[in-house]
Amino acid sequence: MPNLDTILHQLDQKARLDADWGQVASYIPQLARVDPAQFAISVVTADGQLHQAGDHGVAFSVQSITKVFTLAIALGRSGDQLWTRVGREPSGRAFNSIVQLEQENGRPRNPFINAGAIVTTDAVLGNRAPREALAEIIHFVRSAAGSGDIHINETVAASETAYGHRNFALAHFLAAHDNLTNSPDKVLGTYFHHCAIEMTTAQLAMAGRFLIHAPNMPRLVSPRRIRRLNAMMLTCGHYDGSGDFAYRVGIPGKSGVGGGILAIVPHQAAIAVWSPGLNRYGNSHRGTEALAELTTRMGWSIF
Ligand code: DON
Repeated sequence: MPNLDTILHQLDQKARLDADWGQVASYIPQLARVDPAQFAISVVTADGQLHQAGDHGVAFSVQSITKVFTLAIALGRSGDQLWTRVGREPSGRAFNSIVQLEQENGRPRNPFINAGAIVTTDAVLGNRAPREALAEIIHFVRSAAGSGDIHINETVAASETAYGHRNFALAHFLAAHDNLTNSPDKVLGTYFHHCAIEMTTAQLAMAGRFLIHAPNMPRLVSPRRIRRLNAMMLTCGHYDGSGDFAYRVGIPGKSGVGGGILAIVPHQAAIAVWSPGLNRYGNSHRGTEALAELTTRMGWSIF
């Protein structure tokens, strides 16, 4: 068996030597200011051990990775009814694309593109105040991670609210098709805040343990739901880069525009990687490269 700690150390060194970091997200001003030359990787194996290398103590904006947690909560609240409002197919389009929503009458393709995540956020809200829904989301994430030290960065949420024209357009379009039960402002306020949750890779890998499906891991959802969340991550977790990610990395993963990726080796491990520079799909460039090498060297694949 290859030594995991040695591999992680080598991946960290390689990221820094290579110095090809990709571009940080520019459409959220607070994220545009992050130094791209950072790299961290944490792996929790099914025996509960945490292995890591790089800047694993630095908290970053998890952004779309929270869509996995909000989907788990939305399915818990709405069950299969949720699928009447949002689909389960890859979109083949950018995460913030608007054109398909018009063509498909206000039903987003899947819960991980922005339009779909706005619908799942509305389902999590129900008829509650945003404060209550956000408390449930934070509670879920903290329980999953086993850490109380996970918070929302209000400055990032405000920064996205000020520049979130595309998301406002998506939310109003959903409302025009009666696919929101709350006002666009209320849903987006909640959405921008859960996207602005910050975690270290250590916390994120720990938070991913409930998706491993192994004994002694936190049991937050049923085994059937674990399989289904992983299926959504594999097919839709990297937007129009999902096929390439499945081909190169071979396991389910969910990316965020802050440069984080949560990836799951079913029954074996949860991996969190972070490097803020993005590839052309809006997914972490160095993070994807590191995951491709890690899964290859460890022999980790669902195929
Ligand atoms: O809504 C947005 O655009 C961001 N809050 C999240 C997008 C995101 O993370 C896309 N991921 N690669």
